[in-house]
Parts: sequence; structure tokens; C-alpha cells
Amino acid sequence: MTTWAENELMARIEGDAPMGRLMREHYWVPFAQSAHLVHGDGPLPVRLFGENYAAFRAEHGQIGFLDELCPHRRASLLLGRIEGDGVRCIYHGWKIDASGRVVECPTQTVRAEQFAARVPVGHYPVQEAGGLAWVWLGGGEAPDFPVLPFADEDLYRHWVTAQVPCSWLQGLEGSIDSVHAGVLHQTWIAASLKFAEHSNLSFALAEAPTYETESTSYGLRAAALRKTSSGQKYVRITEHLLPLVTITSTGGNTPRTGAVFVISPVDDTHHVLFFGTVGPTPHSAVTLDQIAMQDPAYVPDPLDYTGLRGAREQRWGQDRSLMTDGHFTGFGRSLLEEDAAVQTSMGPIVDRSKENLSSSDVAVAHLRRLLLEALATVEAGEIPPGSALRPGGVRLPNAREMLVDEGVSWEDAVLDPLSH
Ligand code: FES
Ligand SMILES: [Fe+2]
Repeated sequence: MTTWAENELMARIEGDAPMGRLMREHYWVPFAQSAHLVHGDGPLPVRLFGENYAAFRAEHGQIGFLDELCPHRRASLLLGRIEGDGVRCIYHGWKIDASGRVVECPTQTVRAEQFAARVPVGHYPVQEAGGLAWVWLGGGEAPDFPVLPFADEDLYRHWVTAQVPCSWLQGLEGSIDSVHAGVLHQTWIAASLKFAEHSNLSFALAEAPTYETESTSYGLRAAALRKTSSGQKYVRITEHLLPLVTITSTGGNTPRTGAVFVISPVDDTHHVLFFGTVGPTPHSAVTLDQIAMQDPAYVPDPLDYTGLRGAREQRWGQDRSLMTDGHFTGFGRSLLEEDAAVQTSMGPIVDRSKENLSSSDVAVAHLRRLLLEALATVEAGEIPPGSALRPGGVRLPNAREMLVDEGVSWEDAVLDPLSH
């Protein structure tokens, strides 16, 4: 059982909170879709771990990631003008380039160059991978970026962004807790069955599975096991790279097709979810409006953290008439809206000491053990699973699904995961 103290330890990420420090000091942190960083557009407001930043794409493609407030007298650089390789503050005209140097400071009339060179600017290395932009907030020289199977150059990807007003851990647990899909998302699943490439999904989700999990060098592997009528085991693997990335196979007979959940930790009570569909053909990376019935007119407002059409008093925007018409949840815009509604309904930070976990929650329970162990590992001065600081780098295997003969363990069958 999770205690209140453990709950606080896992959920809180602002300031000196140990979980926030663990994330910043050991992992690259996702903050935007690459496609949303366009040269010439205004700087992108980014919030991570309770701190505000401004990100922009410079003329030659480089991404600048700076503390939001101007080093001169603290006006927001979100108001700045993008000029060539930098951003110019509109208050007094200082210009800071994408590498974090003050390159012009017109308010300094003597020895301006020497003065500018001595001004410290909070700036952080950025890496683009798999259609997302990731930042290293851990200081020092940025470590190598992990090898992520959904970032392979030849894959097609489709990302959507959901901004959810609850703790990062509620979002992450939603990505690990695959048993909810057959209930919460059942209307979506029924609709998605018409796509042939997802034909395994019906089989995958028709009956409740048993779950087995194992710790790995990068985090956690969870297998959902179901018996087939021919006496084999159908195994669906979810891979989790601690603590922000989860991938699961949705491919049926199309290898390397899957769904990706990437959590961006905004502050103690908000997170952003990047949800991606990935595959080797445009059709296998089906767009979310196909698989999730997202209303094409629905565009999340980047400054609106609700992502939902109502607060508690409006049942988070639930449409009861839609339910009367046969929709299971009454959230018809998107399966992400269904996830956001249930996660938000728990409160900003759910009290896990009041839960009653059941046998299908084994992966969630394992994840929490892993997070607490990772905190203890760092406390002891060692490197936690999946840390970007691990010698030799980090490689996340692809998620997969397979049929395994009776008597063969799925752990043996999964030994060569990248061949799938
Ligand atoms: S506050 Fe930015 S230039 Fe003065
Ligand atoms: Fe979900």
C-alpha cells in the first residue's frame, strides 16, 4: 500500500522536491512538439517543474531554451521579437541568441561587449527526437540522448497534445494501466475495429488479461497475457523508460506500430501528455481523429490547461445525452478527453493511501515501487534505471505483441525485442 508520505514523495516535483530533482538531473525532459517550434513564430511558453521558460526556433533551425525573464530587468521574453539567431526583448532591446549569449545590450553605453559577455543567462541544451523537443535541465555537459524506437527516421508519427490539470503521476499511471482501455475507451475501441490493421485490438481487449511485470535496466516491462482458443498465449508488451516515456504495441500484423505516451511534468498539479501513434506507413501511424474519433474542429488551446469543457460542477464537460445515445463515457471528442476527465476527477494530487488496488493493478504497483527505489538509488549516490548518465547510453526496446506456445515463457520470447 502506498503511504501518504510516499505519495507526496512520488507526486511532487517543484523546487527541491526529490522526484523533480531526479527527473531534472537524470533524464531528458520533453516540452513541445517539434512542429510547434517555427522560426518567426512568437516564443513558446514552456513550464516545467514549476518554472517558466521561453523556447524559440532560431533562423538556422537551432532551438533556444531560456529562462523566461530577461536578464536585464526581468520582462518576459515571451514578448520578444525573433530576430535571426536570437530573441530581442521588447523592453530595452537586449538580444540573446539561441546558445544563451547576450549579443546586444543597447542600454550599456560603455564597453558593451565586455559587459554583455559577463551577463549570466539561464539557457539549456535541447535535442529533437521522434517529433518532440526535449531539454536537459540537469546542468553540466548534456549526456547522450537515449535511443527511442519511435524516433527511427523511417517511421511515420502523428502526435497530439493534451494539457491536463492534475499531477504528472496520474498521467503516467494512465499510460501503464492498460486494463482501463477496454472499459473507459470501449466506444473508441469499437469504432477503431473497422481499421483492418488494428484487427488484433479486438482480440487484445475482448477479455481481461492477467499481467506480469519485470524491472529492466531502463525501467519496466509489463506483459498482458490472454489465452487464445487454440491454447496459445497472446502477449502484449508495454515498455516504460523511467520516468516519462511509455510505448505499447498496437500493430496487429504490422511490426513497429504502436502508441507512445510521453509526459511533460509542468508543476505539482499539471502535466502535458504527448500522445503519439507510430508506424512504418502513413496508414499504420493512423491519425488520432481516425483512432480516437477526435472531433476535427477540436484544437487544444496551448494556454488553457483544462483540456476539458467543464469543471467538477459540469462533470468535467461530460455529455450525458451522448451517453443516452450509447456512448459509454459521454466524452466524445477524443480518448484523451476521457483520460483527462478521469485523471482530473481524482483531484490535483490523488491520495493513493486511500486506494484499494486489485490484481490487474500489478503494473501500477510495480511502477510505484520502481519510482521509490529510483529515489533511494539517487539518495545513495548511484544512478537510477534509464538515467541518461548511464555509461554506454540508454536504449528502449520496441513494444511488441506476439503469440507464444503454451509452456514457453514470454520473457524468453522477448529476449530479442528489437527484431520485431
Ligand atoms: S528588461 Fe529586457 S531589455 Fe530590459
Ligand atoms: Fe486511456
